[in-house]
Amino acid sequence: MGKALEGVRVLDFTHVQSGPTCTQLLAWFGADVIKVERAGAGDVTREQLRDIPDADSLYFTMLNHNKRSITVDAKHPEGRQVLETLIRQCDVLVENFAPGALERMGLGWERVQVLNPRMIYASVKGFGPGPYQDCKVYENVAQCVGGAASTTGFEDGPPVVSGAQIGDSGTGLHLALGIVTALYQRTVTGRGQYVLAAMQDAVLNLCRVKLRDQQRLDRTGVLREYPQHPKGTFGPAVPRAGNASGGGQPGWILRCKDWEWDYNAYIYFIVQAPVWSKICNLIGREEWIGDPDYATPGARLPRLAEIFAEIERWTMTKTKIEAMQILNKYEIPCGPVLSMREIVDDESLRKTGTIVEIDHPARGSYLSVGNPIKLSDSPTVVTRSPLLGEHTDEVMAEFGFSAERIAALRAIGAI
Ligand code: COA
Repeated sequence: MGKALEGVRVLDFTHVQSGPTCTQLLAWFGADVIKVERAGAGDVTREQLRDIPDADSLYFTMLNHNKRSITVDAKHPEGRQVLETLIRQCDVLVENFAPGALERMGLGWERVQVLNPRMIYASVKGFGPGPYQDCKVYENVAQCVGGAASTTGFEDGPPVVSGAQIGDSGTGLHLALGIVTALYQRTVTGRGQYVLAAMQDAVLNLCRVKLRDQQRLDRTGVLREYPQHPKGTFGPAVPRAGNASGGGQPGWILRCKDWEWDYNAYIYFIVQAPVWSKICNLIGREEWIGDPDYATPGARLPRLAEIFAEIERWTMTKTKIEAMQILNKYEIPCGPVLSMREIVDDESLRKTGTIVEIDHPARGSYLSVGNPIKLSDSPTVVTRSPLLGEHTDEVMAEFGFSAERIAALRAIGAI
């Protein structure tokens, strides 16, 4: 059986993380992704954070699986001719250069539309149109300008960025959806279109609950499920809420057995309203079930700190895994805080292909994330990332270049 995106050719001008996340997803779904790099240099991440001298870094390999790599100097007139030939025969062009870079190569949206009106031209930029549209942006910049940092952390500390790469990988995911949507629309219109995912927009999209809370705060002056309530006062903006749940069911991170030496011995505990009586029975506070000060979600809000302290007295008698097993029996939502070490060792994640072990000629075997999106008719088989320029001759031959022409282009430094 074929893959979902089989037959879709993607010219991949992406680098670093956000764009490569997007094109890796397309490749995992079966698209032919041709990564364009500069000879002798390539994607800067090939050599960033290296753990093995001279081998492509994990940073690069984990973002560029299932792709082919060609080297073309886009600023060489002959190199540009090569790219124009490829553009005429591809379906999608993806890029995440700083604003203006592709235009300086002579390959802006206007030009590409002329070359190939069916082309879907997809960009990651830091900001959408507006005062900051020309700025370069990296992950944590996006987290700061998208509302994530100001709402993450504890009330008495500075803004905090998340370890989750919501700015880079998050935007790549958004862009991939935009591309497949545009491919779908093309089946009706016959036309390509420009697809833009700005990192600020993607982060804000993922922070929508805080935009919700800003408006609730503006209207009522208080956010009753936040730790600032009832002891603190609220200012004009949504405050940092520590580990409070972002949803309608209060939650917090609680210590478990061994927390004194294991800094990941914690569990996220949700005081879900439908299981309140089960929670009370489990922690030995049966009297709270019928007590009007505790019986309803509204009554509990000003007492959350006391309630979580009492629950923590129970969780501290169990390891996080024991606690999870017991809580699951009572359908009480919870999540042990898993370290990356524990995740690496989790056999079930290997079985589903969420973590995969890949072999690479220069670095040997390494672990990577597999495709987190599973399609029953289009299973993902993860293959290693390409070496720099590994597929230049092969791809150029497929696009109609003769061996002599390829040799001549190489001799003048165009590829
Ligand atoms: N042939 C010739 N030149 C090439 C080339 C090729 N095959 N591939 C890249 N280049 C050139 C580009 O033309 C550009 O040159 P120019 O600016 O002189 O015209 C340069 O290499 C790369 O440009 P740039 O994107 O500015 O790289 P940078 O390292 O200075 O900035 C970012 C990196 C990520 C900050 C920037 O690309 C950016 O803001 N991207 C958009 C937002 C984004 O995706 N950020 C997240 C990254 S994870």
